Amino acid sequence: MTKKQPGPSTQSVHLMRSVDPLTHSLIPPVVMNASFAYDDVDTWQAVALKQKPGDIYSRNSNPTARLFEQKVAALEGAEAGTSFATGMAAISTTLFALLSPGQRVISVKDNYGATYLHFLQILPRFNIECVICDTENPEQIETEVAKGCHLLYLETPTNPTLKVLDIARLNAAGKQVGAITVCDNTFATPINQNPIALGTDLVIHSATKYLCGHGDLLGGVVVGSTELVKKIYEFRELTGPMLDAFSAFLLLRSLKTLGLRVERQNANAMAMARFLEAQPQVKSVFYPGLESNKGHEIAKKQMRGFGGILSFDLKGGYQAVKAVLNNLKYAYLAANLGQVETVVGPPATTSHVELTAEERSAAGIPEGLIRYAVGIEDIEDLQADMTQALAKI
Ligand SMILES: Cc1ncc(COP(=O)(O)O)c(C=O)c1O
Repeated sequence: MTKKQPGPSTQSVHLMRSVDPLTHSLIPPVVMNASFAYDDVDTWQAVALKQKPGDIYSRNSNPTARLFEQKVAALEGAEAGTSFATGMAAISTTLFALLSPGQRVISVKDNYGATYLHFLQILPRFNIECVICDTENPEQIETEVAKGCHLLYLETPTNPTLKVLDIARLNAAGKQVGAITVCDNTFATPINQNPIALGTDLVIHSATKYLCGHGDLLGGVVVGSTELVKKIYEFRELTGPMLDAFSAFLLLRSLKTLGLRVERQNANAMAMARFLEAQPQVKSVFYPGLESNKGHEIAKKQMRGFGGILSFDLKGGYQAVKAVLNNLKYAYLAANLGQVETVVGPPATTSHVELTAEERSAAGIPEGLIRYAVGIEDIEDLQADMTQALAKI
């Protein structure tokens, strides 16, 4: 009989249990320090040469950050992980660690705005060719990948229009040409989706979002094979955007409730999406859990839950957006997502704040769009609040 894997909630509570040997605290200590001291030079050198376990300097490694990295790696089914000060540090370090001039990257139009700008503006300056495909055209992505691809970069569901990419299909195309495949799994979380099981080499999270869940820190993490993570870690060691120990401690605490929070947010988002579909002021609702959604069949295939974020396009355009947002009581007007509080905003102030109005329009983002990142509040209250805010249009 094969041993059944513990479920994600059991894993997020019990993985990497490490009772502190000195204090017997069942909660891991926050190792807030710059460097680690040894009794003699030989031991110090053995640790530095990785012949003995231990740490030298917190820019390179830190015990609290390491526990967080190991826990996310385990939740994603990866061998190893390395953590960062922000999600963008994780993304840009991954790209710079793995790419060289003359290489070709394939990605899609609907990436998170700052990621999109890496492909549009930053990497081309280093003579790295970035081909941006239509997110909803897998044939185009496959054709471009087949022409040559060193790194295939995916994000699904996308921010803010919740488009769904077929991870297994696109990874298979990438593998045929020997590409490294990367997936930003921030929106889905390891509770809802595990890209590594679908053939992805590296999974990235903005830990600022669901992994934290409380909006009180910034962080990022990359997990994957030991070999690839080592390359990224070595680049991070040189450039320095590591996660600080206190944020790692808070993240370890947050991960224990990840399953509970995400299940509730999945349920709230589904109920809110159905509710909004029935409202006369709403032109369309974007949520992969809706049968009406273009990506629903693929989402059903690769996701266990559809996530806590939806967006909707109001018939009244930007004036209607302002009327609704200015009147919602149980939602913060803010740029974050994935926290226990509902957080809302238009793309112009959230996911695509870095883009000009023309670039947003070229990226297919409607003027009447609101991104609604649902929290863990009671859904009846959220729906009543939405009803009164829609009435203000
Ligand atoms: C999907 C996605 N990836 C990456 C990031 C960047 O993360 P951070 O803000 O932690 O740098 C964000 C931020 O909103 C995001 O939504």
